[in-house]
Amino acid sequence: MSAKNLLLKQYGEVTVITINRPDALNALNPETLKELDETFSEIEANPATKVIMITGAGDKAFVAGGDISVMQPLNPLQARTVARQAQHLFNRIEHSTKIVLAAINGYALGGGCELALACDIRLAADSAKLGQPEINLGIIPGWAGTQRLPRLIGKGKAKELMLTGNMISALQAEKLGLVNKVVPDDKLFDTTLEMAQKIAAKPQVAVRLIKQAVDNGMEMPVDKAIDYEAELFALCFATEDQKEGMAAFLEKREPNWKDC
Ligand code: COA
Repeated sequence: MSAKNLLLKQYGEVTVITINRPDALNALNPETLKELDETFSEIEANPATKVIMITGAGDKAFVAGGDISVMQPLNPLQARTVARQAQHLFNRIEHSTKIVLAAINGYALGGGCELALACDIRLAADSAKLGQPEINLGIIPGWAGTQRLPRLIGKGKAKELMLTGNMISALQAEKLGLVNKVVPDDKLFDTTLEMAQKIAAKPQVAVRLIKQAVDNGMEMPVDKAIDYEAELFALCFATEDQKEGMAAFLEKREPNWKDC
C-alpha cells in the first residue's frame, strides 16, 4: 500500500511502521490515523508478519500527540468523531492478532503516549519524554488515556500525570511501569527489533493466547479470568506446537514450530 505519512519496512517476520511527519514531530492528523488503520488491516491479513513495531521518524519524536492545528477549530461533534476514530484504531492495535511493540524514540505526548499505551510492550530511548499534557490545552486525554493509563500505572500516578501535564523522562516512566525498558538512544531500534524477532520466533498460537488471556482476563472478575485461562491453556493441547514443544524438551532438541 502507499501511505503518505507512514513508512513500512519488513525485517523477516517483523513489520516496522514508522510514523513519518517529522516536521510536525509525527503528530497524528486524521489522515495518518486512517492510514494506520488501513495498514493494520493489511498487515493483520498477511501471515508473513508475526510482530509489528511502531516508531517515529527523525530523532526528536515518537509522536508528539494529536495534531493540534487540526483540532483547534473543531466543534464538540467533530471532536467526538476524531476521538472515536483514534479510539477505534488504538482498540484494534490493543486487540490485534499480532504482537505490537512501541519503540519510543523521543516525545510520546498526549495521543503519542496513548498510542504507546495501546501497544503490548513499550521500549524507550534514554532521551524520550512521555506525558499527557492535554490539560495545558484545556482538554482531557480523549484517545483512551484516561482509561489505559490508570490500568497500567495505577490511579494516583495516572491522575498526577494528567492533572499536572508534566512530562517525565524515560527512566521515570520505567519506574512507573509506563515503559518496560529504557535503552541508549542509538540502541533503541535494534533492541526493540531483537525483542520483536524473539517473539516472532515463538509458537504463534501460544503467543496469541497469552495476549488474549492477559488483555481479556484483566477485564473480568478474577475467578472468571482464571476459568478463562484454563480454557485457553486447554486449547494449547489441541495444537501441534504443544506436542512438538514438549517432545523436543524430552528429546533434548530444539523445537520445530509450525504455528498450528
Ligand atoms: N500538533 C501539531 N503540531 C505539532 C505538535 C502537535 N501535537 N507538536 C509539535 N508540533 C509542531 C510544532 O507546531 C512545530 O511546527 P512548526 O515548525 O511549523 O512551528 C514543530 O512541530 C516542532 O515543534 P516545536 O514546538 O517547535 O518543537 P520544540 O522542540 O520546541 O518542542 C514539544 C517540542 C513536543 C515540547 C512541543 O512541540 C509540544 O509541546 N508539542 C505539543 C505536545 C502536546 O500538547 N501534545 C498533546 C496534543 S493533544
